[in-house]
Amino acid sequence: MNYIYLGDCLNVLRDNIKDESVDLIYIDPPFNSKRDYNIFFDDKEIQTQRIAFEDTWSLKNIQDSLQELHTMKTENLFYLLLTYQKVAPHAFPYLVMMSLRLIELHRVLKPTGSFYLHCDPTMSHYLKTICDIIFQEKNFRNEIIWSNESSSGFKTQVKKKFVRGHDIILFYSYAEATFQIEHQPLTASTIKRYDKITEDGRRYKIYVENDGKERKQFLDQSKGRKMSDTWTDLPSFQTVNASREWMGYPTQKPKVLLERIIQASSNEGDTVLDGFCGCGTTVDAAESLHRNWIGVDISPIAISLIKRRLKDTYGKQLTAFEVRGTPTDEVSAIELWKQNPNAFQDWWLTEFEVFSTTFGSKGADKGIDGIGQYLVSETQSIRVAFQVKGGKVQSKDIDALIGVLSKHKCELGVFLSIEEPTKPMLDTTAQQGFVEFPGFQYPKIQILTLKDFFNNKFLKLPSTNITFKAAQFKGKKNKQIELGI
Ligand SMILES: C[S@@+](CC[C@H](N)C(=O)[O-])C[C@H]1O[C@@H](n2cnc3c(N)ncnc32)[C@H](O)[C@@H]1O
Repeated sequence: MNYIYLGDCLNVLRDNIKDESVDLIYIDPPFNSKRDYNIFFDDKEIQTQRIAFEDTWSLKNIQDSLQELHTMKTENLFYLLLTYQKVAPHAFPYLVMMSLRLIELHRVLKPTGSFYLHCDPTMSHYLKTICDIIFQEKNFRNEIIWSNESSSGFKTQVKKKFVRGHDIILFYSYAEATFQIEHQPLTASTIKRYDKITEDGRRYKIYVENDGKERKQFLDQSKGRKMSDTWTDLPSFQTVNASREWMGYPTQKPKVLLERIIQASSNEGDTVLDGFCGCGTTVDAAESLHRNWIGVDISPIAISLIKRRLKDTYGKQLTAFEVRGTPTDEVSAIELWKQNPNAFQDWWLTEFEVFSTTFGSKGADKGIDGIGQYLVSETQSIRVAFQVKGGKVQSKDIDALIGVLSKHKCELGVFLSIEEPTKPMLDTTAQQGFVEFPGFQYPKIQILTLKDFFNNKFLKLPSTNITFKAAQFKGKKNKQIELGI
């Protein structure tokens, strides 16, 4: 069985993944910033709220985590971190939080497994010293340079330094790990060295063996050049943006990158895990290469995108998978709201594949949490404003939703609420009447409660939802690229 987990990978790993059960781990964690969760919210006010969700990096959490590391049998790591507290205080909280997660990842990796850590040059040197302790220096294989030379936008706006054209992937593997090296075509200058030709037209060169004897090496027997640790042949963000696989997730990596890693370090039927899986590039690549997979991400948006991505890509061919950690009934949804209202809001909106208020509009507004786009005909789409309310609801909440519809060019409004609506709210909603489209009419305002939702009561909306990707391309493409890390 394959799994997608919503949650902090630390807890997911601890609660769900057995020791030595995974063949290959790839992670692409946030590069020391809270931005990765906040990537979809470029409005300042919203960003501040979202940061509250990402309490992973809070001071209290870091102190607790350091304490925990102290009690584990990781003395060297503990002292290394204390050193970083002094010499690299900016990196220290990140390194503490990553250390705990790396320890768990190491625990679940089989003694025949491989581990890849995708990072950038600002953190890679610190992370390597930590990985050298956890995965052991003797198991370090490569520092892979993934070149994305064609960087543009904000990445090129640097002063008095060179433009960064690469990410770093640290590769560790155990002695018995699977490894199939890819070969690349020989360069023209190497081919030139095969300068002799047999009577039947085969090109070859002469080389001298260790025993001093000359031997022939035929060009048609060469497998090509063994892949080096410098990967310049894979598409960059820009190419990916233009490609069909681009989901609009700003930190999305190209699938070919993950395919290369998975093919090199696993076999069909092996289990591949990504603890920070974003919009599911690893999961998608593992599925297409017939590996089992486990994807974990803390963002409900990411989880929703993965589900959509897998269904769109594989349709009926998709291997069965289970989503864990998202609410499955009213009680668990209310529990999520109590623990974390922002996560609750994101979860519920993404159930309708509505992602954020920032698509196509500037910032958030009172009375609106998300805008969905729906096709009413092959050529016409409409915008629907969504508002989510966790606590007490009152008439002015519905008034606020109605009040912002025209500002955001939304034809319809949806009010999602935990509580039952009051009588005045129902009256106001009914007074709004219906909006007519050729052959259809939809209520201008609809209210759906959590109970309704879990009782499969559906909203009356056009059936086809424009994808996240399409919504994002609407005037936001460059902005999103700039937000990418
Ligand atoms: C750089 S992105 C990964 C992008 C991914 N490789 C892709 O191709 O889509 C980092 C991801 O880590 C997630 N994340 C941040 N903290 C996390 C945590 N503690 N546990 C699990 N996921 C986390 C963020 O939500 C974000 O999606």
